[in-house]
Amino acid sequence: MPDQTLTITDNRTGKAYTVPLYKDAVRALDLRQIKTGPEDFGLLSYDPAFLNTAACQSAVTFLDGERGILRHRGYPIEQLAAQCSFLEVAYLLLNGELPDAAQLGQWTRDVTHHTMIHENLKKFMEGFHHDAHPMSMLMSTVAALSTFYPDARNVHDPEVRKLQITRLIGKMPTLTAYAYRHSLGLPYVYPDNDLGYTNNFMNMLWRRTEPKFSANPVLARALEVLFILHADHEQNCSTSAMRAVGSSFADPFATTAAAIAALSGPLHGGANEEVLRMLDEIGSKDRVPAYIAQIKAGHGKLMGFGHRVYKNYDPRARIIKQVAEEVFEVTGRNPKLDIALELERIALEDDFFIKRKLYPNVDFYSGIIYQAMGFTPDVFTVLFAIPRTAGWLAQWQEMLQDPEQKIARPRQIYTGQPVREVVRIAERRTQPACR
Ligand code: CMC
Repeated sequence: MPDQTLTITDNRTGKAYTVPLYKDAVRALDLRQIKTGPEDFGLLSYDPAFLNTAACQSAVTFLDGERGILRHRGYPIEQLAAQCSFLEVAYLLLNGELPDAAQLGQWTRDVTHHTMIHENLKKFMEGFHHDAHPMSMLMSTVAALSTFYPDARNVHDPEVRKLQITRLIGKMPTLTAYAYRHSLGLPYVYPDNDLGYTNNFMNMLWRRTEPKFSANPVLARALEVLFILHADHEQNCSTSAMRAVGSSFADPFATTAAAIAALSGPLHGGANEEVLRMLDEIGSKDRVPAYIAQIKAGHGKLMGFGHRVYKNYDPRARIIKQVAEEVFEVTGRNPKLDIALELERIALEDDFFIKRKLYPNVDFYSGIIYQAMGFTPDVFTVLFAIPRTAGWLAQWQEMLQDPEQKIARPRQIYTGQPVREVVRIAERRTQPACR
């Protein structure tokens, strides 16, 4: 076995240091010994946006962006999407193994029994303005859950954690459906314990006067697959927010609200909504080349394209493309699909996108399916948040149990003023404000 160390020569001092390698990584703290003198703080690693920094060890999700591989707890995403229900995958993420029939039955019962929300929370939601964005409503109401469950603060008790996890997974579809119906001015529909996870969600979304809404099985399965594909994606922006906020031992509702906030941005989960707006703006297939030329000229980004980690086709996008065909057999073809396919075709042949390894990501096709199913673009990102809650909570729990984790607190390289004296206000000259 080759020596698992790294020798670093500091050319400022000529001194050489040998630092151990840990799983092909350097521990940043080992760089601190590299100093020019006793007054020197020691070397820092500088990595804005964490381009090359592992912030944790995790056994939840494996992602190889160069080869387009995604696995949860060792299972390829393609097999999970083809053979499992969302609740099975959520269980897998949280517990490390797929459930057997009895475990799945118990887990399903537990989640189902936590789908109701307190009537006061319903009133809280009624206070939102009629045109409030569903993602903002979801973020605020999830944060408000901590006012109903003060016991959740005891994040070190595994039983308490388990209860909050079940509550969150159970309540996310209910909160989302209420946010959706609120934006349409429709009365809320209570959860129905006879229905499975996605069917219950669809019932809460779309039931009108009929006693029971019966979801088309193809659409219900499509939603289930979309939920599975969004369940976790290792250390993305929202998961990192979940871990960072959770590292202060904030309760899981406040922590999940922070993750939802991160997900809402257009560079992250909000991209699916932006893709639809982009396709609307393009309008027709023949206008695609002009739109691509505009992007290449530096005017905006092709939404739903590119990924920090995938430098190959996003495996989730490949599965979603297949799901799209199945959904369109039921709903009729969404004409935006043709614009999207043309965008993908042209982009994948274009040097600009090839050189930068830009491929469609999970958000490129998901919105087209959601729209065909009857969702409006402003709810696309909340549809992402429901399943991702399972991944966030799995990563949160792992973080809390990791003896190496401490409160997240990065360093900085200070670039401001050196020390100076405060001048009395009458003697100050107007200075331009710092930005
Ligand atoms: N369209 C055009 N050019 C792009 C795009 C895009 N979608 N994405 C990246 N680039 C260019 C970028 O301008 C840069 O070019 P140059 O080297 O000439 O400056 C190069 O590709 C590298 O991009 P980057 O910005 O350094 O990449 P990043 O890892 O920081 O950003 C990203 C990743 C996902 C934020 C980015 O690709 C993007 O903004 N995509 C559009 C938004 C989107 O679809 N987001 C969803 C991501 S997947 C699901 C999720 O996370 O929720």
